Formats: sequence, C-alpha cells, structure tokens
Amino acid sequence: MDMTKKVLIVYGTRFGATESTSAEIARILQAEGLEVRVVNAGKEKVTDISSYDLIIVSSGMQMGKWTKEPEQFLDRFQKELANKHVAIFVSSGVQALLEHEKKTEEIEANRKQYLEEKATRYHLQPVSLAIFGGVWDYNQMNFLARMALGSFKPRIEAAGFKEIKPGLYDTRDWEAIRHWAKELVAQIR
Ligand SMILES: Cc1cc2nc3c(=O)[nH]c(=O)nc-3n(C[C@H](O)[C@H](O)[C@H](O)COP(=O)(O)O)c2cc1C
Repeated sequence: MDMTKKVLIVYGTRFGATESTSAEIARILQAEGLEVRVVNAGKEKVTDISSYDLIIVSSGMQMGKWTKEPEQFLDRFQKELANKHVAIFVSSGVQALLEHEKKTEEIEANRKQYLEEKATRYHLQPVSLAIFGGVWDYNQMNFLARMALGSFKPRIEAAGFKEIKPGLYDTRDWEAIRHWAKELVAQIR
C-alpha cells in the first residue's frame, strides 16, 4: 500500500501572488516527502478529493473578497472536507502594512472576515489559517484602481518594501510561508 501522504492545493489568484505562494508551499511539502497536486481553480475543476490527506485552499484578497473559484470549491466539497485536514490561507496586500502600523484591531477584523468566516460558512475546522502578504502591481491595475490605491504606496514603503521594478511591490515574508508549510507537515504526520 502506498503510504505517501497526498496534498491538494486549490488556489484562486488575480495578480499571481497566491500562485507563487502556493508553488513555494508545494516545493516545501514535496521536499518533506509528500505528494502534492497544485490546481488553479480558475483554470481547472477538481472532481475528486477522496485520495488527499490534506487540502489547502487559498485566494488572493480584493476589496475584502476572495476570488470566486476556491470558494466554489469549499462549497461543493464541504461535506467531504469536514472529514479531512484542511488549511486555508489568503494573500493580502495590507497585512504587512497593518502589522507595521500596529493596527491590531484591523488585523483581527481581517482574520475574521478573510478566514474564520469562510471556515464557519462551510462548517470546517481547519488545522491552520494564515494571512500572507501579496503583490501590489500598479502596472496591472486599471486606471481607477491605480488612482484609488496610489495612497497605499507611501504605506508600503514605510513598512520597508522597495519597488522590485517600477510599480511592483511584493510584501510577502517567504520565511513565514515556508515555516507554515513545515508546520502543516507536522500536523498530518
Ligand atoms: C483593487 C484591489 C483591491 C484590493 N483589496 C484588498 C483587500 O481588501 N485586502 C487586502 O488584504 N488586499 C487587497 N488588495 C491587495 C491584494 O490582496 C494583493 O494584490 C494580492 O497579491 C492579491 O492576491 P493575488 O495576487 O493572488 O491575486 C487589493 C488589490 C487591488 C488591486
């Protein structure tokens, strides 16, 4: 019998942060000997989750909302997920800024809105919930978003992030992401 633990990562992304974060988590889990399948829910439909020991569901945040496909996944598989190890993370552009600004109430409110409410809505008791950083790509935004979110630039820079190239910031803490992935392995062993 094949005892290799299997992991499914289902993500939704608009700007690509959740995709590359998912890829890094997959790399860590694979290095720990797990078998990992990574699915972009916006491009591919998962039809069967029975063989997985751990399912990680994730989305990028926009105006307080998830992308729709990973949420549809939670909805469709909620009965089966209730009997599985589930972990949820989101990519948030504001988390690192709020941490730097010590806005603990807003951080707590976001954790509720972005993560805990999803778990409650789909009757899940996740083994882990996490908010990771995201990317701010002003080149990919439409005119209105660029105007509306221009005011974030000084906050992003005050939090210590520099432009990777003109108009592009990445607020992720890769060490925190890798650490979370390793902790998940310990949870399902
Ligand atoms: C129009 C717009 C709205 C956003 N709203 C939020 C938000 O409500 N909360 C948040 O944490 N980040 C917000 N962000 C930042 C995104 O979360 C960040 O870009 C993240 O990388 C998105 O994940 P993705 O790259 O996987 O799509 C917003 C970004 C844009 C462009």
